[in-house]
Amino acid sequence: MAQRYADITGWGKYVPERVITNADLEKLIDTSDEWIIQRTGIRERHIVSEGQTTSQISVAAAREAMEMAGLRPRDLDLIIVATSSPDYLTPPVSAQIQDMLGAKDVGAFTLVAGCAGFVYGLVTAQQFILSGAYDTILVIGAEIISRFVDWTDRNTCVLFGDGAGAVIMQASDEPCGVLSFVLGADGSGAQHLIMPAGGTVMPTSQETLDRNLHTLRMNGREVFKFATRKLGKALEQAIRQAGLTTEDIDLFIPHQANARIIESAARHVGLPSERIFVNIDRYGNTSAASIPIALCEAAEAGRVHPGDTLAFVAFGAGLTWAAAVVKLGKHRKPHPKPGWRARLASWLRRG
Ligand code: UT7
Repeated sequence: MAQRYADITGWGKYVPERVITNADLEKLIDTSDEWIIQRTGIRERHIVSEGQTTSQISVAAAREAMEMAGLRPRDLDLIIVATSSPDYLTPPVSAQIQDMLGAKDVGAFTLVAGCAGFVYGLVTAQQFILSGAYDTILVIGAEIISRFVDWTDRNTCVLFGDGAGAVIMQASDEPCGVLSFVLGADGSGAQHLIMPAGGTVMPTSQETLDRNLHTLRMNGREVFKFATRKLGKALEQAIRQAGLTTEDIDLFIPHQANARIIESAARHVGLPSERIFVNIDRYGNTSAASIPIALCEAAEAGRVHPGDTLAFVAFGAGLTWAAAVVKLGKHRKPHPKPGWRARLASWLRRG
């Protein structure tokens, strides 16, 4: 069999319309615009409206990615959804998304690896493609963390935002795709970012509700220390494993959790600011959605080109971390929207 590669052929995003600024938060809790900007780089975040669900925002992002790749739902072989904020604990949100997309009988699973989930998903998709098992995979990172945040806790509520991003990975004969990756976890730090109740350790009870244990608790300082310790090293390792140097990275697209953490990782490998993509100011931390949303925005801003080498790095609850160096295919052509012929063929097939 000829050597197979896995190219990223489409991407899409959805961010809710509603914006909550730091000034809005000043009215809710004891905080200030100045503190939030200085310590995190966040100015505003998008928050879903009542009734919006993780499956809905995922489907919106997925449709955009599929349109860019020129795919219909039936063309998908697998759907991987990275999220820590699904519609339900059971069933998996990936199956809701499969159904809503109309991807009949396509395999779908949900992957939980905190904010590093999207990179874990991308790497997993690549393995299915390299093995020859599948040709076309949809990878989604989607979160509605706002539903799990205690809006009276200034340690967490200022940090997070909602949104979804998606990419399509497809088999290709052109050398490209994930060139190297690093996946890591250290569960000894689990208590530093945790939603204490609602699982098997502390099932929902009147007491867990009264004590408000169904919201995120975070020891920000510990997570910060962990992130600055791990991220730069993971990025450096991934670049080295790819046989590249920092000079070869066209754009660094990190998980958008804290501008200071991003700077520290970039500094560790000597990446200059013009090769770092940052949009945390407008979205806050959208967890598993942050890298695919940033990828879309970087592309919209003309900062991503065919043949570019990108570096992704993320960390989050678990504690987990992940880094990947990804080369985009050069020969990828923008696909037109499926025209009437394709729609007719699809309709005839359905019949
Ligand atoms: O995807 C993974 C998700 N988690 C993260 O990325 C979090 C990583 N950690 C961080 O980003 C930072 O630790 C934070 C932004 C959360 C906090 O920044 P920090 O520089 O580590 O502040 P700190 O926790 O050391 O707190 C400094 C002070 C404290 O007051 P005292 O004890 O010095 O009087 C806090 O109570 O800032 C106070 N503080 C706030 N003040 C105004 C904490 N949150 C706020 C707030 N507004 N929202």
